[in-house]
Parts: sequence; structure tokens; C-alpha cells
Amino acid sequence: MFGNIYSKSTLRSSPTIRDLCEEIVIRRFLPIIEAAAVQGSPINVLEYNSAVYMDFICAFIFGIQNVANFLQNSKTCKRWLELRSISKGYGFWSMEFPRLTSLLTYIGIHLEPPWLGSVWDEITDLCLGMLQSVDLSSEIQSNGPVEDQKWRIYTKPVVYDQLLSQLKSSSCKQASVPLSQSQLRLTMASELMDHIFAATDTTAWTLTYIMHELSRRPDLQTSLRSELRSLSPPLIYHRSNDKLNEDPMLELPSPRSIDDLPLLDAVLLETLRLRPSVPGSQPRIIPSSPGSSPVSICGYTKIPAGTRVSSQAYSLHRNEQVFPEPEVWNPRRWLDASHEQRDEMMKWFWAFGSGGRMCIGNHLADLGE
Ligand code: HEM
Repeated sequence: MFGNIYSKSTLRSSPTIRDLCEEIVIRRFLPIIEAAAVQGSPINVLEYNSAVYMDFICAFIFGIQNVANFLQNSKTCKRWLELRSISKGYGFWSMEFPRLTSLLTYIGIHLEPPWLGSVWDEITDLCLGMLQSVDLSSEIQSNGPVEDQKWRIYTKPVVYDQLLSQLKSSSCKQASVPLSQSQLRLTMASELMDHIFAATDTTAWTLTYIMHELSRRPDLQTSLRSELRSLSPPLIYHRSNDKLNEDPMLELPSPRSIDDLPLLDAVLLETLRLRPSVPGSQPRIIPSSPGSSPVSICGYTKIPAGTRVSSQAYSLHRNEQVFPEPEVWNPRRWLDASHEQRDEMMKWFWAFGSGGRMCIGNHLADLGE
């Protein structure tokens, strides 16, 4: 469905990603951190990191002109985080037993609190609102060139465009009756909401853990800073009150050169190892194709088709044979490892899962961190 829009090479050369980094990270986020630092006032970094990623992923999906600007609108951001936190404890029954849950609800038995529906409605409205904005802005656009419009900055709705074209062509090819306009809209909203959920908390938590670990290690911060300054052009933020640089914008080094920084890479890998943001079970079902024989996994033989098996990053990442002193956050383990040791560590590294249901946003996540 998503072709290569989330692939490493596409993201690395994407003008949209570059524009979003400049607008969201440099023009909006860094001045907030700078102001807090200058005033010596604390800020809730988890909240800001969530806002950055909400803005980033929503803008990548729908175009920056069509989304809420959570970073500069703390009320909307706080409400979103509140809704997400309320809804997180639920979902088991409706996800695992959707028919039973609907049937029981129909006869007045609620397996989940009845008020949960209004929380989901509010979350859904946000996504539907962004979808509607894209439709409206495409109409405005068709009336004239983008530069003439009211937007200060315009970016392509990359994921929206891709999904829409795929759904339209697959619905025409496969279904005898193509999707109606409202079915198409709800299918789009459902899929895109999934991307927003999958992208935001995961990346925001990882970045927050990175900040937490670095804040306890000033020496490591110094080393990381000098690594970032070794880039060409160096990654240096020009303070917004610097008369020579009234615009805090900086020229960004290429994504490839940032990717190649060993210490930055080690910090990211070690944080995802110790604090994987999806630490729990990732289930898979043993396939039941006709004639298929029972499979063996890790010494368990004859597991029948249809059985649910699962593994979890939390445990895999704490294998002492591969990661000595597994509870210690130590980026050096990645730098000091031999080729063979690193290969073994990567074999056990499961922050993004693997196989057909692996995270499709892993390269976007790397880029974002
Ligand atoms: C640090 C950041 C992230 C982590 C740790 C993470 C981790 C994961 C994991 C463990 C899974 C399940 C994989 C499995 O079942 O094997 C997953 C699925 C998914 N992730 Fe991510 N993810 C991150 C960021 C993102 C981003 C930025 C996106 C952007 C769209 C994204 C989109 C998705 C989607 C759509 C799925 C569902 C794939 C499917 O079931 O077919 N993720 N992610």
C-alpha cells in the first residue's frame, strides 16, 4: 500500500522531510527549548516531544497546512495526550473479540466503560478533521498556484496521496462495487490514525529516554556535541536573539552523514535496547495452509497451525550472553563490539519487530530521533 514512501532512500532524499525538519524542529521546537534554557525554567519534555512527533507525522501524512500545530498550541496538545492516556488501558475486548463485544453492547452489557465511546469519537474527529482539511486545501490549490495561497509553508500530503491512489486503484481492480465515497473516507481515516498512533508515542518516549540518559552524563553530551559539529555543514543551532542570525534556521547536513555518526547511532540503539517503546508481546499465528505440517520453535516441536506464538523485545534485549550487564544503559557496548559481536547483538535487537508485520516506520523513527 505504501510503496516506498517510508523507505530509507526515499526519506533521505525527501524535500518534504527536509522542510518539516526546518519548520517543526528548528523554527518551532528549538526556540522553545532555548527560551526555557535562557530563563532557567523547567519544561515537560515528554509533552513537548509528543507534540513534535504529532506535528511531524501528521504533517507528513496530511501536509503541514492541514494539521493542528500541537507544539505551539499547548491546550490541544494536553487534551490529545489526555485522550490517549485514557484510551490506552482499554481495547482488549473490542480488538480480540469484536463480534462478542458488539453483541453484548447491543444487549446492554458493556465489557468496556460506556464513556470510552466518546473518548474514541473525539480522537476520531481529530483525524477526520485533518482529512477534511486536505480535501479543502486540494480544492483551494486547484484554483491557483500554491505560492499564492495563505499558507506560510506548504508541504505535500505524502502518505495521504499514496494511500488514496492505492485504495482507488485496488478498489477498482478487486471489488465488483468500488468503495463508496464515505467507505473510502473511513478506510483512509482508520489506516492513517494507525500511523499516527504507531508513530507518536514510540518516537516521543525514545527521545525522552535519550534526553534523560544524556542529562545524567555531561561528558557524553560533550562527545556527542563534538560529533555533531564534525559534520559538514556542522549541526549548530544559531540562537534566535543572535543579531547576525535573526532566523534560527540552519543549513542541515545530509541525512546520510547524520546516519553515519557512530556515537549518535550507539546512543539510539542502546536506548531502544534498554527502553524499547513496544516492549510487550508481538503475536504471530502459525499459518494453516492446506498440507502444512506443525512447526518447531526454539525446541518446542509440533506446534499446530492456528496457534498464537509471541516474543517480546523486553526479554530479547536482556539476554546476558549477548548484552552483558543488560540493565545498564551503556552506548559503548555498540562502539566496542567486534563485527561478530555486533552482528549477534543486531540479531537479538527487536525494537521494530521483524518479518511481514515489522514496523514500517523504522527509518522515519531513526531520522526523527
Ligand atoms: C522509536 C520508534 C518506533 C518503534 C520502537 C516502533 C516499533 C514498532 C513495533 C515493535 C511494531 C510491531 C512490529 C511487529 O509486530 O513485529 C510496529 C508496527 C508499526 N509501526 Fe512502528 N515503531 C516506531 C515508529 C514508527 C513510526 C515513526 C511509524 C510511522 C508511520 C510507525 C508505523 C508503524 C505501523 C503502521 C505499524 C504496524 C505494521 C503492521 O502491523 O503491519 N512506527 N512498530
